[in-house]
Amino acid sequence: MTPPLPSAPPPAPAVAPPWALLAELSHGCPLRCAYCSNPVELISRSDELTTSQWADVFRQAAGLGVVQSHLSGGEPLLRRDLTAIVAAADACGIHTQLVTSGVGLGERRLAALTAAGLRSVQLSVQHADPAASEHIAGVRSFAAKERAARLVTAAGLPLGLNVVLHRANLDALDAIVELGIAWGAERIELANTQFYGWALRNRDALLPSREQVAAARARLAAWRTRLAGRPELLWVVPDYVDGTAKPCMGGWGALSLTVAPDGRVHPCPAAVALPGLEAPNVRDHPLEWIWYRSPAFNRYRGEAWMPEPCRGCELRGRDFGGCRCQAHALTGDAARTDPACSRSPDHHLVRALVDRASAARPHRPVEAPATVPEYTYRQEGP
Ligand code: FES
Repeated sequence: MTPPLPSAPPPAPAVAPPWALLAELSHGCPLRCAYCSNPVELISRSDELTTSQWADVFRQAAGLGVVQSHLSGGEPLLRRDLTAIVAAADACGIHTQLVTSGVGLGERRLAALTAAGLRSVQLSVQHADPAASEHIAGVRSFAAKERAARLVTAAGLPLGLNVVLHRANLDALDAIVELGIAWGAERIELANTQFYGWALRNRDALLPSREQVAAARARLAAWRTRLAGRPELLWVVPDYVDGTAKPCMGGWGALSLTVAPDGRVHPCPAAVALPGLEAPNVRDHPLEWIWYRSPAFNRYRGEAWMPEPCRGCELRGRDFGGCRCQAHALTGDAARTDPACSRSPDHHLVRALVDRASAARPHRPVEAPATVPEYTYRQEGP
């Protein structure tokens, strides 16, 4: 599993070790969410790493300095060996959080995961209204989520909710926060849709209007004042609307790495779509080489790659030029300034999309029949 180091250039100067690892254990998922950021070309179950390969990934990651891992997907509960994977990470001193749809989480399974060392659970919720939630997810799933939330809090594990926000649920922010409180969440992540993978394919249906975002932001501020941090409300910025580039991943290859189900390692989950970026694989290379020396992780590290206006911008140490995957999705060139930034020469592309979403008639009511094909739902390949 750990072949010798291939010849490679010396590490870039002053590269800090990673502290987090996103483990995409499987791209299989019982849900079909239109906003899913998984790649449109999903990795098949037969190509997934084995239990012992994942255990080796965690051993190497801990050796590099990783202390925290999100066990994600797809749906990680589809892995029958999930308990062994959690135990392997825990044995290396890595804290694990299960990122799940809740579908398939029973009492016995959760007890086994907790005994193996699982530290917390993040549950995805699509809407506070069951019918609307299931329309967005593309399948019946709300009751399973409600049950999973009950089990997690009964087990004494910290529960977080993850709610991807878009045109069809931003107006329901109050009800979503109330749901999180009722379900006992310690943290509610209100994550405005990031347009990669399936979400990019569904962008027109998902992109909210400026007015929707402004109203939701005002309600968020009121909730934050009222709740005073219990539960904590996290807001993932709607960068298309804000006109500011997000400091994506805290910088390219700066803090964390993503291991895909088939062992390919990326600086972020969406980088799989970047042409010409040869993703190294843990089946072929040690993680240390991948982090410090691989061309993929060094491609956009630091500031040397930056074009103008990033190169001369006083914000470059804070936003790192924005998101490489977004630059590619919008311009076809990952090395350009992120068009979400109002200083980018390509910002008009984003502005036009938001103008169109803002001018469109109000979004279709969420109670509308799910048979109306509003979304291209996520689906496995042929
Ligand atoms: Fe890949 Fe932003 S999602 S760099």
